[in-house]
Amino acid sequence: MEHYILALDQGTTSCRALIFDHKGAIIASAQKEFKQHFPQAGWVEHDAEEIWEVQRDMARKALENASIEASQIKGIGITNQRETVVVWDKHSGEPVYHAIVWQDKRTAAYCEELKKRGLQPKVREKTGLVIDAYFSGTKVKWILDNVDGVRERAAAGELLMGTIDTWLIWKMTGGKLHITDATNACRTLFFNIVDQQWDTELLEILDVPESLLPEVKDSSEIYGDTLADFLGAPIPIAGIAGDQQAALFGQMCTEKGMVKNTYGTGCFMLMNIGQEPIVSQHNLLTSIGWRIKGQTTYVLEGSIFIAGAVVQWLRDGLKLIENSSDVETLATQVADTDGVYLVPAFAGLGAPHWNQQARGSIFGLTRGTTDAHLARAALESIAYQTKDILGAMEADSGIPVGELRVDGGATVNNLMMQFQADVLNTTTVRPKIVETTVMGAAFLAGLAVGFWNSEEEIAGLWQTDKKFNPNPEREQIEKGIQGWYRAVRAVEAWAAD
Ligand code: G3P
Repeated sequence: MEHYILALDQGTTSCRALIFDHKGAIIASAQKEFKQHFPQAGWVEHDAEEIWEVQRDMARKALENASIEASQIKGIGITNQRETVVVWDKHSGEPVYHAIVWQDKRTAAYCEELKKRGLQPKVREKTGLVIDAYFSGTKVKWILDNVDGVRERAAAGELLMGTIDTWLIWKMTGGKLHITDATNACRTLFFNIVDQQWDTELLEILDVPESLLPEVKDSSEIYGDTLADFLGAPIPIAGIAGDQQAALFGQMCTEKGMVKNTYGTGCFMLMNIGQEPIVSQHNLLTSIGWRIKGQTTYVLEGSIFIAGAVVQWLRDGLKLIENSSDVETLATQVADTDGVYLVPAFAGLGAPHWNQQARGSIFGLTRGTTDAHLARAALESIAYQTKDILGAMEADSGIPVGELRVDGGATVNNLMMQFQADVLNTTTVRPKIVETTVMGAAFLAGLAVGFWNSEEEIAGLWQTDKKFNPNPEREQIEKGIQGWYRAVRAVEAWAAD
């Protein structure tokens, strides 16, 4: 009987389930979007119960689509939107509030207060992060402080918290496992990435009781079985990683200095920096890439909040296109943006600027500006934001990046990928399978259960689809980059006023 690995990808906008065979091929999949809640400007929430139900249904559907039995699944790997956090009652299993999503900015003012108290250097040294509303810590504090009775219930030991991996595993095991892995723990703002423990000092500062927290595990190990009624038979859960770290693993960036960039709602560039953390001097994050058999691989990360989401905005906000995929056709109607720049700081600016007050802006409009110029400027903004990060990464690590591996939805867009290579002046490599996030989760689980025997075996499954080489004519490209810097400076100056 043939065996498979099931990978669950719980993303910001949809739940997916994919089934992989031994050659790393996807034999079946299922995907469904779930509702986004925007109760106030800058707030983003998810219904954790809905996420669980949709994710469970997608897992069942993928199995059905593959026409296989649950007993043929050797292990389950989970990857998830990071930082998004849920607090729930450990007896009833009911969330006390919606999950607060990574994009949510409600705690921005509190973060500024923490910075004013001079806590940034301590937080950076311990967690590798900057103080920003992006991370889970201040979101948990908000729930404890603002939802009626919750702080008392937490003090009485009635509540649990977790990122989405933790929540799903708790549900899949009927409350038996309350765990996370190091890649998710390190995005909370209270996990010490050096000694790999929850940090009591930071928990005290944020006023979050330790009793709420899950146990932190490796990214690849057999944690325990699902309940039989999840899919029809108990199945070992054997891999967990936050989606960006999973993508780095799925891209097989397993050597120090290897870099990937994932183009999703946002854009996340990660560099493998080996077994020692580096404290960034250029406003990047230091995180855990994965922890396997107790050995930690660290990464430098540059997080861009709005990438694919700028195309969604062209579609839903401006109604310039009907489908996201139409953006390439529209953008190619013009040879360049004619000096138009779009800085999509819709959720502030992420790395390396970390400006929570910044707002999206368009520069350089004339009477001749058309929807095509805007579409092109939107695509170019994704590539320019990536440029800001690559430079910082090279400076922090001292490693010149010779090649960038790319994945995610937008990488099918050849125009953008070529522009990306030009702007970075670095070869950009698209793999045959761009589903690297789920592949990463599948690989982590597959290694733990012996479905695959080694990283070398897995590396053999990774194949190049297309390489985009940078244009050696640099003059125009450099001019474009300088224009982008001017636009970002203007956005920051406006936010500072
Ligand atoms: O840090 C946020 C990130 O994990 C979200 O990824 O792919 O759900 O947009 P995605």
